[in-house]
Amino acid sequence: MLTKDQILEILHPIEDPFLHKTLEETGGVEEIKIKEEKNHVSVKLLIGKTNTAEQMELQQTIVNALKSGGAATVGLRFDQLPDDVLQKFQSTADQQKEASLLNGNTGTKFISIASGKGGVGKSTVTVNLAVALSRLGKKVGIIDADIYGFSVPDMMGVEERPVVRGEKIIPVERFGVKVVSMGFFVEDNSPIIWRGPMLGKMLTSFFKEVEWGDLDYLLLDLPPGTGDVALDVHSMLPSSKEIIVTTPHPTAAFVAARAGQMALKTDHEILGVVENMAYFESKETGNKEFVFGRGGGTKLADQLQTGVLGHIPLQQPYEEEDVFAPSVYQADHPTGVIYRNIAAKVIDKY
Ligand SMILES: Nc1ncnc2c1ncn2[C@@H]1O[C@H](COP(=O)(O)OP(=O)(O)O)[C@@H](O)[C@H]1O
Ligand SMILES: [Mg+2]
Repeated sequence: MLTKDQILEILHPIEDPFLHKTLEETGGVEEIKIKEEKNHVSVKLLIGKTNTAEQMELQQTIVNALKSGGAATVGLRFDQLPDDVLQKFQSTADQQKEASLLNGNTGTKFISIASGKGGVGKSTVTVNLAVALSRLGKKVGIIDADIYGFSVPDMMGVEERPVVRGEKIIPVERFGVKVVSMGFFVEDNSPIIWRGPMLGKMLTSFFKEVEWGDLDYLLLDLPPGTGDVALDVHSMLPSSKEIIVTTPHPTAAFVAARAGQMALKTDHEILGVVENMAYFESKETGNKEFVFGRGGGTKLADQLQTGVLGHIPLQQPYEEEDVFAPSVYQADHPTGVIYRNIAAKVIDKY
């Protein structure tokens, strides 16, 4: 004959099929009655949802478990857990799902591109690093998460919009890179005011509702600076590594250091620094002029205890009429070659 304690021992480890928690954790065993003369056990259980196929399955599991424990017959009744308990467990279940999603279950590595201020070339670096990684055979996506200054589609010469198939958004592909941007969802390039929860929703749907397929790297063009919005975005991405972009000017590097600190504070490892607009090289003489000063990138890297991934000169891509993209450097362009080296370093490190 089974005792009450033995029955609890059998029931407690069994999982609620909806909450994915054990009956011990949910407090789902409501009542146990034992009829000694008939060796009959009856149990009342509370679960996440009643009258479902999952409940039928659970019924089988429990009857079998109690019978192999020694009960001759088993009676089961089910009811739903009270709302407050349900809510508590449902939200943790959702959060876990979200976290695992952002943590790159699929093997995708997240790289956020950050800067202390706007205009230093954060988006240019994002786009060209993505293209360079793709040229090296990697499967790459970009999320243009710079909600105020989205510019990735324009920089890559993307003119089409993503299509929706079923419940999923199919990203636009350009130069082998899949792109999703805030800009796709805004009418007439008009500015929008984003608040915390909206921003979170938007970002979450960029991860969840976009059909990314199998990606090696997903690059995120973050909002510049160290304000609330940038901080929110940082904390919503649990497992990305960061690249900090700066110009060589000491002041720019100083501001970028704060962005770096923010990355570290939110537990994001820094992959390295890219110094953009590092110099101007004369085509005629090959002479380098350090128009925006010198040494900012190295100083920043030292401060953040990381390295400089590359110094990028001031220069425009070649003008080719058949492939129009204002900010993508060709593979054989001197700057394209520098990006290729940066991409190789990134693959090496991450
Ligand atoms: N190395 C460079 N040489 C020439 N122009 C550049 C370079 N990097 C960026 N730019 C230009 O500078 C401007 C700002 O760059 P962008 O990538 O939009 O900066 P951010 O995203 O940091 O605001 C853009 O017009 C871009 O084309
Ligand atoms: Mg930008």
